[in-house]
Amino acid sequence: MADATDGEAPLVIVTGGLSGIGSATAAVLAGRGFRPVVFDIAGGAPDGTAWTVWPDPVDVSDEDAVEAAVAAVEERHGPVAGLVNAAGILGRMHPPERLKMKDWDREMAVDLRGTFVMCRAVGPRMAARGGGSIVNIASVVGSSSAPVHGYAPAKAAVISLTATLAAEWGPKGVRVNAVSPGFTRTPALEAGLQHGVLVADDLIRGAALQRLVEPGEIGRVVAWLLGPDSSAVTGVNIPVDAGFLAGITWQAYGGLRTG
Ligand SMILES: NC(=O)c1ccc[n+]([C@@H]2O[C@H](COP(=O)([O-])OP(=O)(O)OC[C@H]3O[C@@H](n4cnc5c(N)ncnc54)[C@H](O)[C@@H]3O)[C@@H](O)[C@H]2O)c1
Repeated sequence: MADATDGEAPLVIVTGGLSGIGSATAAVLAGRGFRPVVFDIAGGAPDGTAWTVWPDPVDVSDEDAVEAAVAAVEERHGPVAGLVNAAGILGRMHPPERLKMKDWDREMAVDLRGTFVMCRAVGPRMAARGGGSIVNIASVVGSSSAPVHGYAPAKAAVISLTATLAAEWGPKGVRVNAVSPGFTRTPALEAGLQHGVLVADDLIRGAALQRLVEPGEIGRVVAWLLGPDSSAVTGVNIPVDAGFLAGITWQAYGGLRTG
């Protein structure tokens, strides 16, 4: 179980837990003996979930709201042993000169600032107790390139932030890791496919496994990073991408040998 606790089911805050990767991760964690508490900017708890949705909407980029919500969670439910930063917005695919600065600022605010604000609210509490595990959801574009000039640099910075915080809090027993999903079947991705901004065949063609990633496949790696089986792992970024990073360069050599 997550590093800080003895006996009791570890409490894990999952941001962005009302949809996609965050929601699937909360479900995996609930099934594996963790106690997920979801923070999300969207209001309303879905029926029949086996985890807690924080009753007030939380915008992860709002420092005061995050600090207050984390303090209230600990007061109501006990010490937070794990944090999963899955809240995020996908980037606008415009050339730089057409990308509105307000969109660039918002992508940075949610995807990078929000991750830092959450880590800063939770990490020192874990460090004071001598342990904990944080998982930041980055992206394969954070270690490659894509025509999303706000989103991709924000995700690269999340990977960097993961290592800086791992070194900062490692001596206090707190582990900080990143998971970089490849193209994952979530409402956000489905919206891109529906609007024709993304084309499923193009997403699949470069991936070694020739398919999209399912959200639960991210959740299971996150669960491993939160639990004791990864006790010596910190500061790393793990792609969970169906082999997208491994296969994509093959497009320059005529593509993967699928025949
Ligand atoms: N789907 C993919 O292919 C893919 C690939 C790589 C990385 N990711 C990353 O995974 C994470 C989840 O993406 P997803 O595809 O599940 O998206 P999604 O849109 O399905 O879910 C994102 C959730 O985050 C919440 N959210 C958005 N802004 C927020 C804010 N300011 N504060 C709190 N909550 C907020 C939304 O309400 C939503 O519930 C994101 O960080 C995304 O960048 C996704």
